[in-house]
Amino acid sequence: MRAANAINIEDLRTLAKRRLPRMVFDYIDGGADDEQTLRANTQRFRDRELLWNVLVDVSDIDLSISVMGVKSPLPFILAPTAAQRLFHPHLGELAAARAAAAHEAVYAVSTVATQTLEDIAAAHPGPKIFQLYVWKNRALLEGILERAKAAGYTGLVLTVDLPAMGNRERDPRNGFTVPVQLNAKTIPQALAKPAYLIDLVRGGPAEPANFNTAGQKDALDRENGRFDPSITWEYLAWLRSVWDGPLGVKGMARPDDARRALDAGVDAVWISNHGGRQLDTCPASIDTLEPIAKAVDGQAEIILDGGVRRGTDIVKAYALGADAVAVGRAYLYGLAAGGEAGVARAIEILRCETERAMALMGRRSLSELNAADVIER
Ligand code: FNR
Ligand code: LAC
Repeated sequence: MRAANAINIEDLRTLAKRRLPRMVFDYIDGGADDEQTLRANTQRFRDRELLWNVLVDVSDIDLSISVMGVKSPLPFILAPTAAQRLFHPHLGELAAARAAAAHEAVYAVSTVATQTLEDIAAAHPGPKIFQLYVWKNRALLEGILERAKAAGYTGLVLTVDLPAMGNRERDPRNGFTVPVQLNAKTIPQALAKPAYLIDLVRGGPAEPANFNTAGQKDALDRENGRFDPSITWEYLAWLRSVWDGPLGVKGMARPDDARRALDAGVDAVWISNHGGRQLDTCPASIDTLEPIAKAVDGQAEIILDGGVRRGTDIVKAYALGADAVAVGRAYLYGLAAGGEAGVARAIEILRCETERAMALMGRRSLSELNAADVIER
């Protein structure tokens, strides 16, 4: 099977597993501790059931969204994910960005992308969001907001659920580190996947590309992958004072924090548990949506990610109060399976599934969905 022939996201996952060294597949696929939240994220979508209306004219279905000041014809955006040249060593983010651009998808770019934010912007002239991680050594981020603005990123998102790295046990078991170290554990995993190795030789090692001065490279090494654990609401307020475009805060699970974010002047509250990669045993994202939507009460947009693998998941998220849905692994499996074509396939699968689910539900636009459409088992 090729990525272009994948029937669903699980097919792309199977292809990704076949192509990637085990340590790289597990870095994408895995979660923290016992992976309870990772599993719950998908399971809690499936625990909910949909009830449809009949005899509705669904010959024209509009899946378009408006989020953080931009529009997309698609009912989902691509979540920021680190180091995409690990998953597709030749092009990484550029392959994802091209597929996203061709489908008019909003693409969120990670601080620790392995292509520069400028090169990604050139590959994706359409709407994009820049995602921010903050190091203790602030020199690393010097000028980055100005660069993002100049390159045409309209929205900025601060990720706040990573004051420490989650305990992802698959990584030490596989000997996986970023950057990858070649040793007795990792070499056999790499040798088992020759096609990936050839791609790696073409692309070179995957390193954060946004920090390219010698001083920044040194600082990055010294920070050793750790982000600043001391940032607080003051930092968000400071960001609000310097960023004049739409601002979001990503990694939210509680109504009280959502209200504080409103006080800080954010435009978007991004509900996320980082795809089950951070605090394990926290609730599935979809279970935190309704209370947060109630607290936010339309004063900011609500973006939700975590566990979205099917069009019906997307429908449920809009029904329960999301203004936008984001996907992470769904497109990363595609990227690993087939580069640009694989990401394009992931986008098409989720778009078609959502359109079909909407028709079967008797709904013509996402705003017609509401909580009564969903039953919880
Ligand atoms: C992520 N995520 C993430 N989030 C972020 O703000 N900055 C980042 O650099 C990354 N990196 C990253 C790498 C990988 C491999 C994954 C799988 C995820 C989290 C991401 O934005 C999103 O919250 C989750 O992926 C959503 O869950 P699903 O869709 O993967 O189930
Ligand atoms: C991750 C980080 C880097 O989830 O966001 O791996």
